Amino acid sequence: MARITAGLTTSHIPAIGAAIDLGKTEEPYWKPLFAGYEWTKAWATENLPDVVILVYNDHASAFTPEIVPTFALGCADEFPPADEGYGARPVPVVRGRPDLAAHLAQTLILDEFDLTLMYKLDVDHGLTVPLSLVYGQPDEWPVQVIPLAVNVVQYPPPTGHRCYRLGQAIRRATASFGEDLTVHVWGTGGMSHQLQGPRAGFINKEFDTAFLDRLVKDPDGLARMPHIEYVREAGSEGIELVMWLIMRGALGRDVEELHRFYHVPGSNTAVGHIVLRPADPSRQEEN
Ligand code: DHB
Ligand code: FE
Repeated sequence: MARITAGLTTSHIPAIGAAIDLGKTEEPYWKPLFAGYEWTKAWATENLPDVVILVYNDHASAFTPEIVPTFALGCADEFPPADEGYGARPVPVVRGRPDLAAHLAQTLILDEFDLTLMYKLDVDHGLTVPLSLVYGQPDEWPVQVIPLAVNVVQYPPPTGHRCYRLGQAIRRATASFGEDLTVHVWGTGGMSHQLQGPRAGFINKEFDTAFLDRLVKDPDGLARMPHIEYVREAGSEGIELVMWLIMRGALGRDVEELHRFYHVPGSNTAVGHIVLRPADPSRQEEN
């Protein structure tokens, strides 16, 4: 079976990618932010999975406003970095895992989650910036990646509850894969930020801290939070946080918190990052 052995979440701010690509990580503005990922980089090197299921949102890079899938699963052999207007980031092409992706597609669709299947997908900062934060600047990414793109850009995005239940379904689906593999699930985006309108620059540390606490200890309750509360309390782009519940659902009821980091600001955003491990990885067939 494929075993989910860890999960993590991180903001995916594009300026972080630019800071890495342009060699600015030691500058006073960026140094404290990157310091918060040092623990994770060491842990990630020691705990390399075979595959990362990487939950992120496309920011009108691969999808246009004319085609907006709610959940899109990357089934291709590889995923090139997207050109977001400044040329593609100088990062390796992302290697996929088509056999596990096909198994997830079949199992999840028969489990009544209607996914869009992507056999061609350019991946933007939502996916490549987390890879850079965790694995640095290698010539090849050290893991295979199955992208799972979630619509949080055009109304209506999926509810947190739907995302949480999709994570639980991913947990069951990976358990029924025929090959022994280790899998990590990542949730990206957030935390509080608003990039537009009169509240541009909005940050809410109190909300973000409570969100991190509840993500660890009260995911069932957190999954019931309505959209309006995300937007009011975490800003319009804070809705990206629903994606973290897919990661959380995939880890099972009880988790151990290995690392947490919170930093304001990173560009316009509250940077939130947490690393979790399932308390009981042996019981993956159950939620
Ligand atoms: C910023 C954050 C995001 O999550 C994003 O997708 C784009 C920009 C920012 O903080 O600037
Ligand atoms: Fe974003």
